[in-house]
Amino acid sequence: MASVIRRLEEDDEVENFDCGDDALNNYLKRHAWTNQEKISIGVSNVAVEEGAPRAVLGYFTLAMSSVPRDAFPKKHVRGLPPYDLPLILLARLAVDRRFAGRGLGHALISEALRISLRAADEVGCRCIVTDAYRDRVGWYARYGFVPIEGAAETGPQRMFLDMRTVRAALRR
Ligand SMILES: CC(C)(COP(=O)(O)OP(=O)(O)OC[C@H]1O[C@@H](n2cnc3c(N)ncnc32)[C@H](O)[C@@H]1OP(=O)(O)O)[C@@H](O)C(=O)NCCC(=O)NCCS
Repeated sequence: MASVIRRLEEDDEVENFDCGDDALNNYLKRHAWTNQEKISIGVSNVAVEEGAPRAVLGYFTLAMSSVPRDAFPKKHVRGLPPYDLPLILLARLAVDRRFAGRGLGHALISEALRISLRAADEVGCRCIVTDAYRDRVGWYARYGFVPIEGAAETGPQRMFLDMRTVRAALRR
């Protein structure tokens, strides 16, 4: 299956999207377009098949954010000034379950990292952060995301990926 990843467009078919998670389905169907084009709080990229370029098979959403320096364990912020840390939030990522396990998740996160690196080259940005479902922590760890210790013990696990790690991996 040849897939393409590109920015979400207004005519994209999202109504049949089903990743098995209501919140992630609902975001794509109800909020992604508005958040991207009308209120500028998140940009979504979608994976589509070359032969059916409107049906969305997967997506991710990125936004700029910042967190207090103290929110990170000391070992990760040693040497940094006492400012809030600028970062990119990987706010959402999901693949339609009918297309899971075929590498689309890999293609989407790889593109999210490439976009983040381009942004970080232009605008100061220390790391990428995501709030991973507990049962997906292992999946994100494959890409170098590290759990932030001391975060809440229930609910999503906050994880981060240092931009220097991304730079080293993608510029190798
Ligand atoms: C997580 C998700 C994006 C992965 O997408 P995908 O297209 O199935 O992923 P890929 O095909 O690229 O990767 C599958 C690989 O990850 C592995 N994997 C899947 N879940 C894993 C987990 N929890 N921990 C570690 N590895 C995992 C698979 O074994 C497979 O390994 P392989 O490449 O060695 O065969 C997808 O399952 C999904 O959308 N789930 C529902 C929504 C969700 O949980 N989103 C994340 C929110 S935090």
